Amino acid sequence: MEAAAKVRAAANGHGSGPIPGLPPGPRMSRALQTAIWSRKAQWFLEQSRARFGPMFSVKIAYEGDWVMLADPELVKQVFTGDPKIFHAGEGNQILRPILGENSVLVLDEKPHIGQRKLLLPAFHGERMQAYGEKMTEIAAREIESWPTGVPYKLRPRMQAITLEIIIETVFGVHEQERMEPLREALRNFLDLTTNPAALLPVLMVGPDRIKHIPAFRRRIERVDALIAREIGERRAAEDLEEREDVLSMLLLARHEDGSPMSDAEIRDELLTLLVAGHETTATALSWAMERLTRHPEKLERLRAEVADEEDVYLTATIQETLRLRPVIVIVVRKLTEAVELGGYELPAGAGVTPCIHLIHRDPQIYPDPDRFIPERFLDNPPGTYTWIPFGGGVRRCLGAAFAQFEMAVVLRELVRRREVLPANPASERPFRRAITETPRHDAEVILQG
Ligand code: HEM
Repeated sequence: MEAAAKVRAAANGHGSGPIPGLPPGPRMSRALQTAIWSRKAQWFLEQSRARFGPMFSVKIAYEGDWVMLADPELVKQVFTGDPKIFHAGEGNQILRPILGENSVLVLDEKPHIGQRKLLLPAFHGERMQAYGEKMTEIAAREIESWPTGVPYKLRPRMQAITLEIIIETVFGVHEQERMEPLREALRNFLDLTTNPAALLPVLMVGPDRIKHIPAFRRRIERVDALIAREIGERRAAEDLEEREDVLSMLLLARHEDGSPMSDAEIRDELLTLLVAGHETTATALSWAMERLTRHPEKLERLRAEVADEEDVYLTATIQETLRLRPVIVIVVRKLTEAVELGGYELPAGAGVTPCIHLIHRDPQIYPDPDRFIPERFLDNPPGTYTWIPFGGGVRRCLGAAFAQFEMAVVLRELVRRREVLPANPASERPFRRAITETPRHDAEVILQG
């Protein structure tokens, strides 16, 4: 019996239990699959889905075997699965020398939940109002400084906005003379995770040995020194309780045994928030404008509703942008033991990967899935396992509310202040940077006063 038929038989209860091993997938060599994955991930996923169905295996260098999941029911089983079995931190070890061993991104099980609990209060929905004023001020100031009448790439400018917002709302640094060196050091540090040329050495020598490479150490030490100074001075601040930034909240946070977070823990989480929240949000904002400028009637509707202080269409626009251009195309969980899923007995060590891109393009869930239609979310709120730009379960993006709030602020300020036209009428295609899928021409537009 061919493999797909065996799975169907197993799923229908006609077979003899789950099939041990991995589901079928492309036969190309690991090297070739890795090369295609890093350049044309979406095409690769779509081709494989058409050929093998909603569950298929791919082979990626440094990562091992990934079992792609493009069915909401399977995704649900992974997101609600036992965190002891579905490890997310293990798949992020490459970030350990950069973010540190306390980073919520690289931990699993109890240590992960411990750090996550310390961070959560700063990212609850109701906290967002506290950050809103700063976000609006920063977005308005930036947008006013952009030139009009000439082709202008939005993505680097969106990055400038998201970096500024993190410096003020997460680090709580507001004085110009302090912001400048911190901004420079953070930019240089971010290069490690966003510039493939800087990330490659980490991949080549591995997370343990990279720390001994002087060029790598210098980047980290510079940012560490500045953060240590901020933490030290903030610990001594008398107005900690009244301050509204994330760093101040972390200084007040307590572990379950009542102890405060150490400087190392705070350093690791601050840099984690920076890396997780900066480029992702800037990319999503760039895509929102790339899509809106190709749909002037939708941009017009957005402008009219924003002028009326309405947020309903704005929210739908953000949801639709994150559906159609989800920034990150998969999330990964490494199996610590064999698991039965979708008719297979998957071996320990394999990665299972809920596939954001394919779920979001499923025509059964989203009619006309390739079209940008914010209206589809007006009467149908996004589903927990069918709209997954922020992943899910105990690993769901901590900054999901923060990111959507920030996107709303920036888009509101932009459409209020400027007419925006595409620099070139053709749509921009996705282009893979180190981790995120960005608009190929950096969302190039022409602004008008
Ligand atoms: C549009 C912007 C963003 C997107 C698309 C995004 C997406 C994601 C995704 C897909 C994950 C992995 C979830 C999983 O494995 O199930 C994640 C995790 C995470 N994100 Fe975001 N993110 C965004 C913005 C932010 C922001 C602004 C912050 C913080 C300021 C942030 C902080 C985090 C953290 C700390 C994690 C790790 C959570 C954990 O492992 O428990 N993200 N994000």
